[in-house]
Amino acid sequence: MNVEPTKADNLVLRRKVHIETWGCQMNVADSERMLSLLEANNYELTASGPEAADLILLNTCHIREKARHKVLSRLGVLDRIKSKKPGLKIAVTGCVAQADGKKLIELAPQIDVLIGPGKIDELPRLLEEREQTGVSAVATGFDRHKDEHGDRGAEHSTISDEPMIHIPSISGKPEVNRFVNIIQGCNNFCTFCVVPFTRGREISRPIPEIVKEVEYMVSQGAKEITLLGQNVNSYGLDLLGRDDVPADGGPFVELLKAVSDLPGVDRVRFTTSNPHDFTKPLAELFSSHPKLGRYIHLPVQAGHDRTLERMKRKVTVEEYMQRIKWLRDAVPGIAISTDLIVGFPGETEEEFEGTLRLIEAVRFSFIYSFKYSPRKGTAATRFLDQIPEDIKERRLAALNQLQDKITLELALADVGSVKHVLFVFNSKKEPGVWIGKTPEFRVVRVHSSADLAGKTLPVKIMGGNKTALVGELVH
Ligand code: 5AD
Ligand code: SF4
Repeated sequence: MNVEPTKADNLVLRRKVHIETWGCQMNVADSERMLSLLEANNYELTASGPEAADLILLNTCHIREKARHKVLSRLGVLDRIKSKKPGLKIAVTGCVAQADGKKLIELAPQIDVLIGPGKIDELPRLLEEREQTGVSAVATGFDRHKDEHGDRGAEHSTISDEPMIHIPSISGKPEVNRFVNIIQGCNNFCTFCVVPFTRGREISRPIPEIVKEVEYMVSQGAKEITLLGQNVNSYGLDLLGRDDVPADGGPFVELLKAVSDLPGVDRVRFTTSNPHDFTKPLAELFSSHPKLGRYIHLPVQAGHDRTLERMKRKVTVEEYMQRIKWLRDAVPGIAISTDLIVGFPGETEEEFEGTLRLIEAVRFSFIYSFKYSPRKGTAATRFLDQIPEDIKERRLAALNQLQDKITLELALADVGSVKHVLFVFNSKKEPGVWIGKTPEFRVVRVHSSADLAGKTLPVKIMGGNKTALVGELVH
């Protein structure tokens, strides 16, 4: 789909959309896709807040507790704006829309359009429907996979299936780092996780479509491309019609090669990897394709086989460590981060200590750590031995204390070295301070009066703490 404005568009006053995106980078990519569809339908982004908008779009997240409560409270505020501005439309999209569906409209009738993540391409049609019928328009659920005729099985969709390649940035400005969704959904059903319920089964986008989208982003100034999916390692298996990743690394390796070979792309990252589908050829790609950098996020969730089994993670600690070895053999010193959950139902002290041992063994560059929280509809909510909150708190604190020490040690080990830093933006609070990332994904702050955005430059690391390094440009 081409979203270049036509002459006719230019004659008509464009309507304004205000977009609020919560949660993960996939939501950012979804918001950008919806903005692209809206631009093709005579909307433009407003930077003047919700009061200036004709359409307010709340793209929501359901990964943590109290998601619905948060949405309702924001809708309360927006409703006051709506009461003063007849004709203002409110759309709720994302995982809360999928999980709560029409129930959310009963609680918040001010919602004009409600769309789950599997139906975002239907936004223009639903806005039209709302206009014509006067009642809230709803689309949730997930389409079947592309069939042999090449459509996604959308029963009512009037949207063309032509690949949409002109995706604007949600900030309305050129961005150095852009996100591209490559696969929707997840087939895994880890017992704690709500994602397969809110994002549906895996549907991959074809490589040529992704490449076109990336090419456009590069033409708009992007230097770093982050490929997104709940489980990027199983990318393309649905297109091949198989359940396991081929021994050569399969379509994901092919996609990474295609994207990192594109001129103008300086760095390629991807998230989230699942250790179960992580292959040795993928680890080896890091040594043959330096644009992949020296960093990977590989969530393990826990460091004991009994916990991993009850989480249905489908790998043991030993198998996880094998993936770490593949990576470190391919790229000595590669930085690895992970996600960890403490207080999963039935987690004993011994099991929790397994997680501490794993942290020591891998020496992650950083971690995202969570207290287990029951998510409606997931298997683990029905497990009997739920862990009391005070124990979860204690375990989380112990985990973070250990990791903070390692994070600091690894960061300070960079002091004195020269790193190639990709500069992303300048600090709003401190003029003259530029923020960039090393190939190991560590944040570096550098003073410079020059415009460094999008440049990769050698930087001598002078010091730092666990959140950021401080460096000087090497002339
Ligand atoms: N409780 C706690 N953490 C969770 N995560 C996902 N579901 C839950 C839950 N029910 C964490 C996992 C996942 C990350 C995105 O969020 O660590 O990798
Ligand atoms: Fe959730 Fe990730 Fe497990 Fe899929 S692989 S169910 S997204 S934790």
